[in-house]
Amino acid sequence: MSVRIPEGLQELLVGFTTEVLRTKPADLLHFAVQYFERLRDSRDTPVHSPRSPVPDCTPSTASVTESSGEEDCVPGESVIRIFTRRVSVSAEPYDPDEDEDHREPRVVHAKTDEQRQRLQQACGPILLFRSLDAEQMSQVLDAMFERRVEVGEHVIDQDDDGDNFYVIDRGTFSVYVSAEGEERLVGIYNNRGSFGELALMYNTQRAATVIATSAGALWCLDRTTFRRIIVRNNAKKRKLYEGFIESVPLLQSLKPAERMKVVDVLCCQTFSDGERIIAQGEGADCFYIVESGNVRITVKKNGVETEVALCSRGQYFGELALITSKPRAASAYCAGPVRCLVMDVQAFERLLGPCKDLMRRNIAGYEEKLEKLFEPGAQEEVPSRSED
Ligand code: CMP
Repeated sequence: MSVRIPEGLQELLVGFTTEVLRTKPADLLHFAVQYFERLRDSRDTPVHSPRSPVPDCTPSTASVTESSGEEDCVPGESVIRIFTRRVSVSAEPYDPDEDEDHREPRVVHAKTDEQRQRLQQACGPILLFRSLDAEQMSQVLDAMFERRVEVGEHVIDQDDDGDNFYVIDRGTFSVYVSAEGEERLVGIYNNRGSFGELALMYNTQRAATVIATSAGALWCLDRTTFRRIIVRNNAKKRKLYEGFIESVPLLQSLKPAERMKVVDVLCCQTFSDGERIIAQGEGADCFYIVESGNVRITVKKNGVETEVALCSRGQYFGELALITSKPRAASAYCAGPVRCLVMDVQAFERLLGPCKDLMRRNIAGYEEKLEKLFEPGAQEEVPSRSED
């Protein structure tokens, strides 16, 4: 006797089993009823395309101030996502010119004064937020909500769909990437920084696993708000910096799509004449490309501070400490007003791998230059940074 297995049964049961194993519900029967009801409801509503992402569930404290028709997002929505799983698409981020949906809800999570203060402190150094205007920033802060984490907790699992972007309030986190059956530790966060932007920016699955290595707290920004504000802003940044980034000698070895990813994570910072951008001896977490103006690089040795290089448009500085994982070996001062494009250490590690050989070759020349400059009777001659 042959038994015909109905079409879709296997997928249905695998999806259900996966969710049970993932969420470990206390009442299996109740969970099953909810699961299949939600699944039926989701089947009866149109599937979202990768360009119009599945709306994210916001915790119950969230209030929606504008109607979108999508507010009835319910806990357990992840159940539905199994069947509408996002697929990896190109590095193409969101194009605001194609977006005709201006009915997205504005998410607001109530916060105490103490929470708001902590939130502002945590978000101040986040480069992705630096190019937002005041109104956009205020919408981002309103939408963020706090999540406490315990040691060992997986905040993100590689290959999952992206739900939130995270800003660290406190705590330490390790980042692992699995490839070809091998898991590698690729970075750590120590009480500051942010993660989880990639899956939201590029509509891909999570690129890494992030695990809390201490108890801590995170500020979370839901996917929809992230895409509406940050990704839309990035599209403008691309238009603004595309030409300049193509002309930076260091980045010539990157493919055009890789260069655009560099633009997505850069933020522009302006400095005034004489301002110190980095200080010798300090810890390092940023890399700089000069967009306009001149930056003097100086080294202090035996109490004498000497200019060792001058960086101008298209040149870079701040790479040495990131590559060697040591404190800053030199200071950087503005000679006149300066605009720099700044990248954080995680993005530097992730995106500038192909440019590192070039940087290392230049670094090899630094020591030699230094020795010459600090030789007794050395001439006051300031070398310009090599073109790349
Ligand atoms: P996302 O892919 O959304 O989720 C995992 C996050 O880990 C990723 O975004 C980055 O924010 C962060 N991350 C930090 N370092 C790396 C790395 N080397 N490769 C991939 N992701 C990284």
